[in-house]
Amino acid sequence: MGILVKNLEKSFGQPPTRVLKNLSFEIKEGEFVAITGRSGSGKSTLLYTLSTLDPLTSGSIKLDGKEISKLENVELHQFRNLRMGFVFQFHYLLPELTCLENILVPARKTNRHEALEKTALGLMEDFEITHVKDKVPGKISGGERQRVAIARALLMKPKYLFADEPTGNLDSISSEKVLRIFERVNKKDKTTILMVTHDMGYAGRAGRRIGLVDGEIDFDRKRKT
Ligand SMILES: Nc1ncnc2c1ncn2[C@@H]1O[C@H](COP(=O)(O)OP(=O)(O)OP(=O)(O)O)[C@@H](O)[C@H]1O
Ligand SMILES: [Mg+2]
Repeated sequence: MGILVKNLEKSFGQPPTRVLKNLSFEIKEGEFVAITGRSGSGKSTLLYTLSTLDPLTSGSIKLDGKEISKLENVELHQFRNLRMGFVFQFHYLLPELTCLENILVPARKTNRHEALEKTALGLMEDFEITHVKDKVPGKISGGERQRVAIARALLMKPKYLFADEPTGNLDSISSEKVLRIFERVNKKDKTTILMVTHDMGYAGRAGRRIGLVDGEIDFDRKRKT
């Protein structure tokens, strides 16, 4: 059913500063959307608000028909754990766990880590990181870490994948691997992807680009096919 945003406002502080200004748009299931804009234009704020990690100030966000600001805590956690995957600019892997254990963290919450170990190993193989399976995140490269983080985000086969500058700290080879993974899960698994990026080249590979200027939509374009 996708994401339906109406008159979304987000302010911070007292007196309030408006960071997202009266945004309305719709994201259909299966879309791959890149969000671009200058530093401070509100990209991360938009991503966190849409993905329920940050509350909105006013307006409405419906995810699969559910008004997310009205979800109770338990429901919200379930919603996140089962339907959403997150990839951040900085990876937030747990330093004391091995990479395989890190990927299995979302499964542990619902006691499914044994059942999903095969899936995790399959993702590692797909992402060419099997060799780091038993290492801790501190002992592998940034590109490998980001792929571990993406595998963790995809373990529960989320319908929605939210990524904030997933290639932000990566060299071009690692970035290309990340982009290919995104293109593949979007095509093959029909995962809906929202990706914040500074990189116009990567943004151009998404099916749609939304450009923000000062918390407002500057453009919203589909890719010509
Ligand atoms: N927790 C917060 N408290 C107060 N102001 C905030 C908070 N988070 C973001 N802002 C402000 O909101 C505006 C938008 O920030 P946001 O992080 O969404 O920008 P961005 O487009 O992601 O920038 P960048 O490309 O640098 O990551 C900025 O002016 C920022 O200072
Ligand atoms: Mg940001």
